[in-house]
Amino acid sequence: GKQPELFKPLEIKGVTFKNRIFVSPMCQYSSSNGHATDWHFVHIGGFATRGVGAVCMEATSVVPEGRISPEDAGLWQDSQMAPLKRIVEFSHAQGTKIGIQLCHAGRKASTYAPWIKEKTGHGTSWVAQEDENGWPNNVYAPSAIPWSEKYPNPKEMTEQDMQYVEDAFVAAVNRCKEIGFDFIEFHAAHGYLMHEFVSPISNTRTDQYGGSSLENRLRFPTRVLQRMREEWKDKPLFVRISASDWAEGPEKSEDGTWLQWGIEQSILWVQKMLSLGVVDLVDCSSGGNWFKQKIGPLIDGKIAPGYQVQFSEAMKKAHPSVIVGAVGMISDPVVAESYLKDGKADVVSLARELLRNPHWVLMAAKTLGCEVKAANQYDRAWR
Ligand code: FNR
Repeated sequence: GKQPELFKPLEIKGVTFKNRIFVSPMCQYSSSNGHATDWHFVHIGGFATRGVGAVCMEATSVVPEGRISPEDAGLWQDSQMAPLKRIVEFSHAQGTKIGIQLCHAGRKASTYAPWIKEKTGHGTSWVAQEDENGWPNNVYAPSAIPWSEKYPNPKEMTEQDMQYVEDAFVAAVNRCKEIGFDFIEFHAAHGYLMHEFVSPISNTRTDQYGGSSLENRLRFPTRVLQRMREEWKDKPLFVRISASDWAEGPEKSEDGTWLQWGIEQSILWVQKMLSLGVVDLVDCSSGGNWFKQKIGPLIDGKIAPGYQVQFSEAMKKAHPSVIVGAVGMISDPVVAESYLKDGKADVVSLARELLRNPHWVLMAAKTLGCEVKAANQYDRAWR
């Protein structure tokens, strides 16, 4: 039969992804002082043997204090390269492309890993304290506005702080080059540092990096992307955005004031990225920057399947030339195929569905009536 869209190869800057099903980045809270461990080798290696087009490794911080939790991944020092290299080489031996998401958690840093919190006596606070390997006194953000009362109180970043973070992103990119990653994803979503800069909810600066001016809010994240691109010229650079803050009310008031981050500004930002040549794929996620966010649409009180596809669809419509990823509650292969067929996205990223069903790609191929190659060792299971 005809090759389903999901299983058509995709070439980006000379890298050929064998299909369009990507593993979405997922924090594992299993690093040792920022170093990947055996857990990562097994977890990521498992995906690499099971037919996915690409694996994106979890949010990996470019400085120690940019980690979300003390157990998070890092790439701020050379010793963190070797365990990643082992994973990349295994993945390549399996014919699977692999990338990494570079991140800084901003005001959401120094918080507990989900299952560590349950063991602490700190009540409702999410702050990982100094005696718990946290750094609550070294949390910084565009503005001194905490994410919620349960989170650390961030300091407002100086221009010097910004330069230091920018340089750390560049250093991490150079380590990625040496490790051999196929692509890098710049994490500008989920209320972490770069999203904090672009959103008027979290950025109330009065200098050239913030406030009501969209241009000002985009300045720092865009500059970091430009610096990253200088070091990562011929390779795929992805950007994950949150296409909405999901705060109540509209994105823009009647007089044109931006009230929250949303799809309109996302489209403008991507336009800017495209004109500067600093993005090859826009990964359209949402939320994470407002503690009272109201995600929609809902079905029976639950977030609906494909709830973020509206954003990848709008992005593709605005910028037909850009490669767009859809993510979020994608589980049904027939529905996933329809997103691509209908031009709402070019790739799909799956997170939880692949945790529940690591063989999803092989199952999807069977459902859609095509063949896909996983590891030789698993071949007989799918004949
Ligand atoms: C995530 N998510 C996530 N997103 C991201 O950009 N960087 C990350 O490191 C993580 N970490 C993470 C850990 C775990 C355990 C989960 C379940 C999720 C979000 C994830 O990539 C994805 O966007 C959402 O989970 C929505 O997709 P699914 O799960 O509905 O397929």
